[in-house]
Amino acid sequence: MGLQDLEHPLVHLTPPHGWLNDPNGLWYDAKDELWHCYFQHNPDSTVWKQPICWGHSVSKDAIIWDYKGLAIVPPDSDGGVFSGSVVVDNRNTSELFDESTDPRQRVVAIWTQDADGIQRQMISYSMDGGYSFKDYAHNPVLDINNSNFRDPKVIWHKETGRWIMVVALSQKFEISIYSSKDLIHWQYESGFAVRGFKGLQYECPGLIKVPLLDANGQEVKDTKDNWVLYISINPGAPQGGSATEYFIGEFDGKVFQPRDNQVRLMDLGKDFYAFQTFYNTPNDKDVIGMAWASNWQYTNQTPTSQYRSCLTMLRKLHLQKLQITPEYSEINLFSAPLWDQDSLVNLAPPKSLTPDAPLLPNHGLNINLDQGEGLLEFTWEWSVQDKLVPKADFCGITMFLKDQETSNQFLSLGFEANSSAFFLDRGNTGSHFTETNPLFTRNLSADLTPYRTFQGTSIYKVHGILDRNILELYFNDGALAATYTFFYLENRPIRWVHMESSVNDVFKIKELRFTELAI
Ligand code: FRU
Repeated sequence: MGLQDLEHPLVHLTPPHGWLNDPNGLWYDAKDELWHCYFQHNPDSTVWKQPICWGHSVSKDAIIWDYKGLAIVPPDSDGGVFSGSVVVDNRNTSELFDESTDPRQRVVAIWTQDADGIQRQMISYSMDGGYSFKDYAHNPVLDINNSNFRDPKVIWHKETGRWIMVVALSQKFEISIYSSKDLIHWQYESGFAVRGFKGLQYECPGLIKVPLLDANGQEVKDTKDNWVLYISINPGAPQGGSATEYFIGEFDGKVFQPRDNQVRLMDLGKDFYAFQTFYNTPNDKDVIGMAWASNWQYTNQTPTSQYRSCLTMLRKLHLQKLQITPEYSEINLFSAPLWDQDSLVNLAPPKSLTPDAPLLPNHGLNINLDQGEGLLEFTWEWSVQDKLVPKADFCGITMFLKDQETSNQFLSLGFEANSSAFFLDRGNTGSHFTETNPLFTRNLSADLTPYRTFQGTSIYKVHGILDRNILELYFNDGALAATYTFFYLENRPIRWVHMESSVNDVFKIKELRFTELAI
């Protein structure tokens, strides 16, 4: 295997060549039991460039993706097929299908045409299970003569028996809500305007009912307050560039009423944008989605040669009460990766450190992952003796990830106990891009509350998936997530873990287990 082949992550969707941004039209085919993912794509360019089309990949297990080429292309090469969504019109409300198409595969794509300085909502439909599409003969289905009106996400609203579209009036900072009986005629219902982080543009909204779970993981059924409206903002995100924020509230089929004015981010990293949920999931109640793992601030310059950028793993969402401080709790969005290890090859038995291994400043602990091809999963749980934390010093536990023991290039991540912050430094990985692009922020952090506290000891945990040039972190059972891309010297796979503490006695490793995987 050449070094160039190592630039593609293994379980994160990338095109074989060319450009990728937002995930589009996510749907699950209940007939063929297949995940479909479309995405903003230009196979002939590694920077964003018109004509932007919908690329297409499918997966049996949501782990290994099979590229199927272009699904929707613009009628002329000036315009673009911008972001949008897919629904399964199983009742044939659109009357676009006949009996020859299985109800579970009556796929309608709703997308934005960007042409002549105007953005309009169009529909296309597929009669072969989502592989090829025909444009609806009387497009557009929604045109308000606006130059920044895009990214329709449509759901079926059971309670009122209508289709609901949320779509961004990007530069007016409004998420418009429309309803329809047939996917063709759309009626304006309301606008969700200027809330949360405004940034400099609203993009890629979505509105979805998310299961609320109690402390025992049981669904709370009699609640109305479990709708989530997510919005991507770019530029102007708090970490710089692009981010996805969300609001929790009620939706009556016409108006979304947020429960408070609090803004929350879906992911605290710098590479999580344009999140979208799947239409249909194998288990009806599940809410599953994925995002684009990049940031418009630097995405066109990242150091890959054949393709540019990937999507995140699929994430399953739920709402749950989170103890934010000892005196305050509230319902928040939790996420967990859809991670079916049975689809992967274990290259070696998992490698662990001894539980409760003490960490001393001059005596690091090592794990050798010499089988690794660049796909690693880890769980890491550590404890902090709060009273022993020296105030005047950096008090950190740090994990260094590199290709071999003697290398000077590394990705480092860890926890600082004075500030209770998880940190990541992606600035020492040896790539020219990393060293020279100041917007590819080197040091990033996520503030954590302990997962558990007892007798002066605080416990934290993180589940990590590291796949060649992307690291997804899920803290404290998914209460927070953070996604970061990084570019290691010559795409060499990470094969060596070194743990260090800056102080004596403060930290203990409760668990650190690494699994080396391949497809
Ligand atoms: C978000 C976005 C969308 C648009 C698409 C164009 O990343 O700007 O608003 O539809 O990308 O590729």
